[in-house]
Amino acid sequence: SDLNLQEIHDFMVSVAKQAADRITTAKPTTDTAGNKKNSVDLVTETDQAVEALISSQLRTAYPTFLFMGEETYKPSDTLTTSPTFILDPIDGTTNFVHRASNVAISLGLAVDRTPVIGVIYNPFTRVLYTGIKGHGSFVETPLNPGTKTKLPLKDPEPFEGGLGAALVCVEWGSTRTGNDFAVKSQTFARLAADKRDGGAFVHGLRSFGSAALNLCEVAKGSADVYWEAGCWAWDVCAGWVILLEAGGKMVDANPGNWEPKVEGRRYLAVRAGEGQDGVIEEFWGHVQGRFEVS
Ligand code: IPD
Repeated sequence: SDLNLQEIHDFMVSVAKQAADRITTAKPTTDTAGNKKNSVDLVTETDQAVEALISSQLRTAYPTFLFMGEETYKPSDTLTTSPTFILDPIDGTTNFVHRASNVAISLGLAVDRTPVIGVIYNPFTRVLYTGIKGHGSFVETPLNPGTKTKLPLKDPEPFEGGLGAALVCVEWGSTRTGNDFAVKSQTFARLAADKRDGGAFVHGLRSFGSAALNLCEVAKGSADVYWEAGCWAWDVCAGWVILLEAGGKMVDANPGNWEPKVEGRRYLAVRAGEGQDGVIEEFWGHVQGRFEVS
């Protein structure tokens, strides 16, 4: 397409940075915004205000583009081939409510249902992750203002130790009952267990509480794998670009599907490095059942 991705990216970065103060100065309360699916699926007034702020700026600058956002999404909204901004105003809402700092504005652009720009900005730490399809992904931190460091941060090591040498990001998500909860909890136990008990004996399991930031950890190479089912396009669109541009790979959380969709809700992300596919197959060997969420 003839879109100027660099120019759109620069605008997305400026919009995310402008919205940051709205998050850091807020007093998080779920009182009037209420809960969504259940008592652990949190939304605050700040989520809604930040989405309104960012979406109005995007619509003004790019009136022909479509918009999909966590707080205004309706089940009838489907991703089309048109350029679509995909926003999670606060990824890590639970952290935000608890004043934990793993929080991000996650803003992506998808064209032809493919993520092409990713901007992930933590308003508290002021760390910025960006990626443009075909042009690499980068991180910029307040320690090095104005300096963009290419991802991954170090030359990726081959996966010689397989999953047994891996740091694995997982999330409980907001589903706490039924098949999908059982698949997650049984798989977590299996990943952690000693090899003598049939486990993968991973170095560690991490739940940073933000799908977007988990994907950035894998893009950096700090984490090796991120596995989740139940999150949404706005949780992953931006991180998807950043991961792929860092040499990472995204496949389905259910064993056997190498072609996940951004609007699907199951993801297995693996960092760059020789032996990625072997780690994916090894991971699938530990998944206990199949997710029903599509
Ligand atoms: C959630 C976070 C969480 C993940 C959930 C997401 P939210 O997004 O990314 O880490 O486990 O699946 O829905 O609700 O904080 O925007």
